[in-house]
Amino acid sequence: MRDIDKIISELTLEEKAGLCSGADFWHTKAVERLGIPDVMVSDGPHGLRTQDLSGDDPNNSIQAVCFPAACATACSFDRDLLQSMGETLGEECNSVGVSVLLGPAVNIKRSPLCGRNFEYVSEDPYLAGELAASYINGVQSKNAGTSIKHFAANSQEHHRMTCSSDMSERVLREIYLPAFETAVKKSQPWTVMCCYNRINGVYGSENEHTLTEILRDEWGFKGYVMSDWGAVNDRVAGLKAGLDLEMPASGGVNDAKIVEAVKNGELDEAVVDKAVKRILEKVYLYVDAMPEKKPIDIAGDHEKAKEIAKESIVLLKNEGGALPLPAQGLKIAFIGEFAENPRIQGGGSSHINTKTTVSALQAVNDIADVQYAKGYNREENDTDFGLLNEAVELAETCDAVVVFAGLPDSFESEGYDRKHMRMPDCQNELIARVCEVSDNVIVVLHNGAPIEMPWADRVSGIVEAYLCGEAAGEAITDILFGKANPCGKLAETFPKKLSDTPCYLSYPGDVSAPCTEGVFVGYRYYDKKEMDVLFPFGHGLSYTTFEYSDLRLSSDNITDQDTITVSVTVTNTGSCFGKEIVQLYVADNTGFAVRPVKELKGFEKIALDAGESKTVTFTLDKRSFSYYHEELGDWYAPTGKYTVMVGKSSADIQLCAEINVTATVKLPFIAHENTIFDEFLDYPEGKEALDMLLPHVFQGMLGGENFEPEAIRNMVGGMPLRQIRSFGDITDELLYAAIDSLNKNFGGGKWQVPKK
Ligand code: BGC
Repeated sequence: MRDIDKIISELTLEEKAGLCSGADFWHTKAVERLGIPDVMVSDGPHGLRTQDLSGDDPNNSIQAVCFPAACATACSFDRDLLQSMGETLGEECNSVGVSVLLGPAVNIKRSPLCGRNFEYVSEDPYLAGELAASYINGVQSKNAGTSIKHFAANSQEHHRMTCSSDMSERVLREIYLPAFETAVKKSQPWTVMCCYNRINGVYGSENEHTLTEILRDEWGFKGYVMSDWGAVNDRVAGLKAGLDLEMPASGGVNDAKIVEAVKNGELDEAVVDKAVKRILEKVYLYVDAMPEKKPIDIAGDHEKAKEIAKESIVLLKNEGGALPLPAQGLKIAFIGEFAENPRIQGGGSSHINTKTTVSALQAVNDIADVQYAKGYNREENDTDFGLLNEAVELAETCDAVVVFAGLPDSFESEGYDRKHMRMPDCQNELIARVCEVSDNVIVVLHNGAPIEMPWADRVSGIVEAYLCGEAAGEAITDILFGKANPCGKLAETFPKKLSDTPCYLSYPGDVSAPCTEGVFVGYRYYDKKEMDVLFPFGHGLSYTTFEYSDLRLSSDNITDQDTITVSVTVTNTGSCFGKEIVQLYVADNTGFAVRPVKELKGFEKIALDAGESKTVTFTLDKRSFSYYHEELGDWYAPTGKYTVMVGKSSADIQLCAEINVTATVKLPFIAHENTIFDEFLDYPEGKEALDMLLPHVFQGMLGGENFEPEAIRNMVGGMPLRQIRSFGDITDELLYAAIDSLNKNFGGGKWQVPKK
């Protein structure tokens, strides 16, 4: 074991300040005098974008394998798959000497317009956290670190470097933080990358609440925090708040500010020491066990990328069994430039320099004879009528037409948001025209985020391939021709149109990005609004069918201290092997707080032969039933009834069971002049105060008239105690006696009274 404290004691203040920022774009600093090595970091997340030079030249990345982006892998709902993808990436890191892979990226998909959604996992924080933890465990099992990013609430690209994601503590805790929380608790990433944006007005790079109070003190994070590239606003404030490493280099400017702040007493040197210690611990963790470098197994990893893509592609629609296509006996057309030139990844810092990209047109050669027409120009919006007419003519002569469509690179990328949710006009027009001449049209989509599909009702099949990496063509053709059975499900909702989306009225904001939809992000919103969507969260079809039976709870009456197991049997009732993603949602029926209709609290992917049954088991605990109670400053599961739901998607619940949960914590309660009647009306402890006050209220406000008790309750419920001075003969003496009585009787808080 290295004695890091001893090393730190031998460093000068200037050297320590220097270690708190990068040497260049991709390396930490070395201190040759003491033999402290530098280490390299690389993007991430779905492959290695390792740069040969010290700068950031997109054309200068090494050749590496492009795995499916997170928009796709999220649809696998498969922890083991993400773990093994992480292991492969970890081995690639070892091959080229990368100490930290910059990923996964787990920001919540708040709006489909966010230009970087392709890199993010889900609209659901539980799913994002579970998959991120598996990926991290995979990479780190190979002695390479990860940097989970962008901490936190970086859900838009518009003005990403300055805008403030503004929200309540509850929304932050329930929606924007849990993916990071789960990953930290389950997989201890070596590093966390802070975001560019501000959170409630304070930059992510100097936010003590997120970087220290929550990340370290509450969750127990042990690694170092690095800045996103150029995210530092005030270096000294950042260091104090918990930002250890500034990336990339600041040309020495910020290092000098750290030295100056220590010298003038503004910054305690111990804070610098702590940051250096956290960084060096991970530098040496890597260096001391650094495996020998060897070439990346490009061919072997390409095969893995193909398998991952097959597990991730989602069959959205399959009318009349249009898919799978037979390899022989049908005249088949592939139409659309994406068939020849697929979009396999998004633009920006995650862009991988691939050696091989296999298109569907190439891959299909091994399976079937198809004819091809380009149909449109991939990077254009306007129709090329020559290409369009040629494609329609071909479609007319074929029995089945597969149109490859999606978003061009320029439509979505890191660095800017989409302006709308549409595909290019030329592609929508092509599909519409092809549908006029063929009644067997299948659309394969390459996109990093939901799109509007004006033709959805007119086609017989839709395959969502997302940006599924360099083996896209092989994976897609395997699915189209039934060599693989589709088994992905959507990790996000596809709304019908942009104006249906939860933050339509407030996105993207400007200086402030107000999260006005609160916790109602994704399906939490559409469910609550009872709104029809194009494809719901969790939806995905298979070439076989599944039946659910025998839902059992280990107990239907628990306290919030207990855990229960939930089991359900799933049977493959079709005629071929397939995989099903079983989803568990919990609904709070207590009526105590405003909550989503239901929330994902468990999922399992299972493989079943035709006719086979398996029992899936989930564990639920307090957190599964809780919401974040701001006054309590903790998670709270109100006493009352909940429904445990198991289903095929968020909109296709198969089985339900009721459970009663009893809270074992009291809620904070201190009565004062502005306490409202609703806060104690229904509680036995409040009776004495009520008896003192109510007669005066009735007398003064209602003139003694005979109101229904329910009406009286409704009327006084929201009234602060001080207001009763305005009614009748109440004295301050009586008012304060009532307040004293409340505080005496409620003692150290109150037990929630379950709603009837
Ligand atoms: C991105 C990060 C990335 C970094 C280094 C930033 O602009 O936001 O996700 O890791 O650049 O390329």
